[in-house]
Parts: sequence; structure tokens; C-alpha cells
Amino acid sequence: MRDQIRFLKGLAARPRMTGAIAPSGAALARRMASHVDPEGDLPVIELGPGTGVVTKALIERGVAPERIIAIEYSPDFCRLLAERFPGITIIRGDAYDLDGSLDGRAAEAASVVSSLPLVARPLEDRNRLIVAGLERIAPGTPFIQFSYTFKGPVQPIPGQFTAESSSWIWTNMPPARVWLYRKA
Ligand SMILES: C[S@@+](CC[C@H](N)C(=O)[O-])C[C@H]1O[C@@H](n2cnc3c(N)ncnc32)[C@H](O)[C@@H]1O
Repeated sequence: MRDQIRFLKGLAARPRMTGAIAPSGAALARRMASHVDPEGDLPVIELGPGTGVVTKALIERGVAPERIIAIEYSPDFCRLLAERFPGITIIRGDAYDLDGSLDGRAAEAASVVSSLPLVARPLEDRNRLIVAGLERIAPGTPFIQFSYTFKGPVQPIPGQFTAESSSWIWTNMPPARVWLYRKA
């Protein structure tokens, strides 16, 4: 309930950036985390972690907190994440400026997991973000994104990336799907 209130405050302050009326449900977060390999040493980049629902699912999946680099715009959510998840790296910055925000970190990463409200941004920005994320991860590994939309927030671009969606997670409010983008 307290996270719901925090979320509503975020929504009131920055509606387009917060982009949802409530944090993702645990089932959606687990589905996103299920596409991340918990083994290995490479960083896992999380974009728009908010109150940390997906961060928690990643850690429960077995991803070491020290591997998680979270980029979050809201200073309030950054403070909350630091309290909740000791060991993770939190960058207060703009996830769409991936290179600038990472500032030399995670040139190579195991995964990119995003809860950003992509549809609030122009299509060029969304496409650029997917390509920038995929540049850091191995071919075949997905850029993981959830969305409430039917069509998906980004369409595949031949020669650049493919798109695949999960079934609907009806228990989420609102129902959502997980989209996986891979290098073409
Ligand atoms: C839809 S919420 C998702 C929060 C949480 N991961 C979840 O699943 O409930 C979107 C989050 O992305 C953050 N965000 C939006 N635009 C951002 C940006 N350009 N850079 C970093 N974080 C951003 C918001 O502050 C918010 O925490």
C-alpha cells in the first residue's frame, strides 16, 4: 500500500515518466526476471526500477545484487531503492541516454531489463534505446520490456532487431505482456 502511495505521488509529479497507476505485480516481475540468466559475472542493467518490484524478482531469481545497475530518474525512488537493495548500483539519470548515464560502466552486460513507459516517448527514442541496449548484450540475449499495449511499444526493424511477446499476464493490473527484442 505504501508503494502504491509512493507511485501515485510519482504519477502526480511526473505523469508521463511514471507511466503507470501502480507498481508492476509480482507475476509480471517474475516473468521479466525469468529471461535473465542468474549465472555469470556481467552486470544486469535495469531501467526504470521505480519501487523495485523487478529488482526484487531479479534478486530472488539468483542475480547477485552487486551485478545490478539500476538507472532511475526519480530521486525519491532512488533513495527508496538504496534503502531496500543494499549492494546494487543506483544511477540517478536518464535511461534514454544510456551511454551518458552509464558513463563507462557495463560496456558489456548480461541483460537489459526495462520497465520504462516507452510509449510516452517518440518512436525514434524508443528504437534508439533498444539498439543501444542490444549493443551491450550478447546476440540472442533479449532486451526485456513490459507493456500494456496490444501492439507493443516498438516494432521490429529488419536488419536491426526482432520482437517477440509473451502471453498476457492477466493478474497484473492492468494486464501486461513481456516483450523480448533481440539483435536481428
Ligand atoms: C512504469 S514505472 C515502472 C516501475 C517499476 N519497475 C515497476 O515495474 O513497477 C516507470 C519507472 O521508470 C522511471 N523512468 C521514467 N522515465 C525514465 C527515464 N528517462 N530514465 C530513468 N527512469 C525513468 C519512472 O520514474 C518510474 O520509476
